[in-house]
Amino acid sequence: MRLICFPSRWAPAVLPGLVLGICLLVSPSAFGQQPVAEEKPQTPWVEDNDTRPAEVAYKNIKVLTGLPANRMKALMNTWKNSLGVECTFCHVKGEWDSDSVKEKGYAREMQKLTVNIARDYFDGKEEVTCYTCHRGEAHPAKRLPAAPVQRRARPVAP
Ligand code: HEC
Ligand code: HEC
Repeated sequence: MRLICFPSRWAPAVLPGLVLGICLLVSPSAFGQQPVAEEKPQTPWVEDNDTRPAEVAYKNIKVLTGLPANRMKALMNTWKNSLGVECTFCHVKGEWDSDSVKEKGYAREMQKLTVNIARDYFDGKEEVTCYTCHRGEAHPAKRLPAAPVQRRARPVAP
C-alpha cells in the first residue's frame, strides 16, 4: 500500500504513521471495501431492444408469458412501487429466477387475479391494477380508518 503513495526509497525517511496518514488522505479509494471487479453490478435485465417473449428471454416465467422481455424492468419497478416494497420482498437478490420467497408465488396469483378482473368485469381493459388495491402498501387496508384521515369535497353526483 505504501508503494502506491510513496516511492519506496522515501519510506525509510518518513515515520510509518505519517506515511499511512498521507496514504489515507491521498487515496481513500485504495482503502474502500469494493473490489474493482464489483464496480459494475450485473443488471438483471435484458437489452432494451430485446422484444422476445419474457418466457424466452428469462428463466422462470409462468404468468407474464407473452410480455415483451424489455418491459420486465418497468413492470417489476411498478410492482415494487405499487406495494411500497423492495425487490427482495419477492426475490432473493441476484437470484431473480428462484422461487424461494413465497411472496413471489403470491404475486403470481395476484397477477392472475388482476388479469381475471379485467377479463370478467371490464371487457379485458386494465381498469384494476396492483396499485388500485395496494396504494403503495403490501397489505391493502380492509376497513375505513377509525377517524377520517382527510377532509375533502365529496362529489354529490358522478
Ligand atoms: C411483488 C413481488 C415482486 C417484486 C416486488 C418484484 N418482483 Fe421480480 N418477479 C416477481 C414474479 C412473480 C416474477 C415471475 C413472473 C412470472 O412467473 O411470470 C418475477 C420475475 C423477475 C425476473 C425474471 C427472472 C427470471 O429469469 O425468470 C427478474 C429479473 C426480476 N423479477 C427482477 C426484479 C427486480 C430487479 C425487482 C425490483 C426492481 C423485482 N423483480 C420486484 C415478483 C416480484
Ligand atoms: C383486488 C385488489 C387487489 C389487487 C388488484 C392486487 N392485490 Fe395484492 N393483495 C390484495 C389483498 C387484499 C392482499 C392480502 C393482504 C394481506 O395479506 O393483508 C394482497 C396481498 C398481496 C401480496 C402478499 C403480501 C404479503 O405480505 O405476503 C402480494 C405479494 C401482492 N398482493 C402482490 C400484488 C401484485 C403484484 C398485484 C398486481 C399484479 C396485486 N397484488 C394486485 C389485494 C389486491
